[in-house]
Amino acid sequence: MKFRAPEGTRDIPPAQAETAERWRNTALWQSLEAKVRECFARFGYEEIRTPIFELTELFHKSSGETSDVVEKEMFSFKGRGEKGESFSLRPELTPGTIRAVLEDSLLEKKSFWKLWYMGPAFRGEAPQAGRFRQFTQLGVEAVGSADPLVDAETMILFAEILKSAGVAAWELRINSIGCGTCRGGYREALRAAVTPELPKYCENCRRRVERNVFRILDCKVPGCVALSSLLPAAIDHACAACRGHMASVEEALKGAGTPYTVDPRIVRGLDYYTRTVFEFSSSSLGAQNALCGGGRYDTLVRDMGGPDVGSVGFAAGVERILLAMEQGAAAARPDFFAVAIRPELRAPLFEAVNRLRRAGLSGDMDFEGKSIKAQFRRADKSGARYALVLGPEEAAQGKVKLKDMLKEGEERAVSLDEAAAALKEGVRS
Ligand code: HAM
Repeated sequence: MKFRAPEGTRDIPPAQAETAERWRNTALWQSLEAKVRECFARFGYEEIRTPIFELTELFHKSSGETSDVVEKEMFSFKGRGEKGESFSLRPELTPGTIRAVLEDSLLEKKSFWKLWYMGPAFRGEAPQAGRFRQFTQLGVEAVGSADPLVDAETMILFAEILKSAGVAAWELRINSIGCGTCRGGYREALRAAVTPELPKYCENCRRRVERNVFRILDCKVPGCVALSSLLPAAIDHACAACRGHMASVEEALKGAGTPYTVDPRIVRGLDYYTRTVFEFSSSSLGAQNALCGGGRYDTLVRDMGGPDVGSVGFAAGVERILLAMEQGAAAARPDFFAVAIRPELRAPLFEAVNRLRRAGLSGDMDFEGKSIKAQFRRADKSGARYALVLGPEEAAQGKVKLKDMLKEGEERAVSLDEAAAALKEGVRS
């Protein structure tokens, strides 16, 4: 019987597997991960790691009972033992991050944290291009500040990530959805505008009008999109403080030269947002064009039992960034590939290979008993700059032959120490 990966999941093999989907190779992932880590460090963010499953209740209390993610998409299971608690694979990393911040009393040690994370998330959605059941999120949570400059900084940071990843075709849309002071008034204004037209909306929206009327703005059904484009915008109902906050965010984005548009339809599908919300999308992706989503959440920390502090963050789908990248990444090239001219020379060659590795060089040899010709073919395919050849003559002299794969035919017999020095030199040149 042949097994297949579960629907909505993907394997990421090494680059030499040459899969039809260019993004499915670990060389590309590693190169993106390195760039992303470098961007996070440059912006002063520190890494946090949390479990991939949490108590189901955590997501109900934070992401929200009426969000699609919690309502329909969580992979939940009962814990073992007497307690019989319900756990869920994390559909997003924000709730676990805030739980961790509070559990380890981070805010007592320092009142403002800039945290980043990268890891798997799980949503039981219908799989399609760019939409998976297991996917990878990279993101940040800046916990402990209500400063609009931090909102802008998260967006500038993600734009920088896209730049270093080589994604040129992107768009940033931002909006303000108000705060505890002005949201109530906006909710009533929305309900008043939706109610007379309610029969024209989809079933989901008709249900949402009572439970969470804001989600109507997020509906993707074309009929609902047309109807909701005529609805009042949150910013028109925003209080003076929210307007001021939005103006400062815009000013900071302009100052940084980060292009954006204000889009009153951006409301986000999770319940914890206040004030600023934003989405990055890419025209080079298909229907699932959202690269990144985020926003401010000034009440979540308090609602989860922590102090009354503001926070803002974003998360992006790594697979989607890779899909939008224009350039691939080459697999890392080893420094050498070692070739044994006779089978009995494989053992001393193995010793030599390991000595060179201990000296900090990267390289490999054949482990399948291949012919000399096939070993050289391997050396070529590995992308190594040098072939390290051990024949009976070199073995008798305690030497190896170094063959420069770039300069056809150029080879010389050297001691292993000389080989190590030459390899280091040659690899740098
Ligand atoms: P989100 O918009 O639900 O926000 O997800 C963020 C990103 O994750 C999306 O823009 C998309 O790129 C990616 N994504 C979501 N679902 C899938 C999927 N099924 N397959 C592939 N990629 C997917 C959040 O998760 C919030 N926690 C963001 C945040 C952090 N807000 C504040 N802090």
